[in-house]
Amino acid sequence: MEQPADLLALAVSVARAAGDLANRMRADGVDAVATKSTATDVVTAADRAVERLVRDKLKEARPGDVVFGEEFGGGQERAAVRWILDPIDGTVNYLYNIPVYAVSLAAEVDGQVVAGVVLNAATGREWTATRGGGAFCGGRRLRVTGETDLGQALVGTGFGYAAERRLHQARVLLGLIGHVRDVRRIGAASIDLCLVAEGALDAYYEKGLNPWDHAAGGLVAAEAGALVTGLDGNPPGADMVIAAPPALHPHLHDLLSKLDASGGP
Ligand code: IPD
Repeated sequence: MEQPADLLALAVSVARAAGDLANRMRADGVDAVATKSTATDVVTAADRAVERLVRDKLKEARPGDVVFGEEFGGGQERAAVRWILDPIDGTVNYLYNIPVYAVSLAAEVDGQVVAGVVLNAATGREWTATRGGGAFCGGRRLRVTGETDLGQALVGTGFGYAAERRLHQARVLLGLIGHVRDVRRIGAASIDLCLVAEGALDAYYEKGLNPWDHAAGGLVAAEAGALVTGLDGNPPGADMVIAAPPALHPHLHDLLSKLDASGGP
């Protein structure tokens, strides 16, 4: 039986070493070394080096586990624990030296995320959660806001890298922006989810996320009391991730559904 608290302790120590490496490489200067889905979807040498470091450390501590990471994939074999890793979430922030980028590491057992850490390497701010054990930041238990009125809600979102998808997302935003307090595009989905958990955002939504973007942050948000779902009864995933306090969630959900937010390219 895997203990979420033990998995979290390992995740935290590995994420801290990973964050240190990301910061050292940032201090030396960062260039994009390759692009992925589009010309603006960049990979830096640090994304790859950090993912290698995390893989090595997890292998050393738990050789039987598998890792599913943003840069090198993997994790398709059966194992007691599958680790889901974004070595640097917020790569574009990292490239431009905007201090909002995170190591996001989650432990999944039997298809369910049971522990997760999101570490903003630039600031040292660290959010953690275990399933059923609550969400924490700096020793403080986290709780979502009590906001119930969409018109008063501060809502985070993000955009994909492909132009056609971004245009669809912008059209959805056009339909939403007149119905909320305001919108934030912070640039790291894992951190957006943690900000919902701590009440710095009332809610967050985004289409097109990958598992490594939302695995750890989604657990942090859920353990802080957010409903974390997709659209129209679907689980959170590539089509949509919505995180919001239970009383606010239906209002945001229904507007996003009406706007066909999970449609388009
Ligand atoms: C991206 C960030 C961004 C979100 C994108 C993600 P990456 O992840 O989380 O905020 O809007 O959808 O792809 O590429 O920086 O790891």
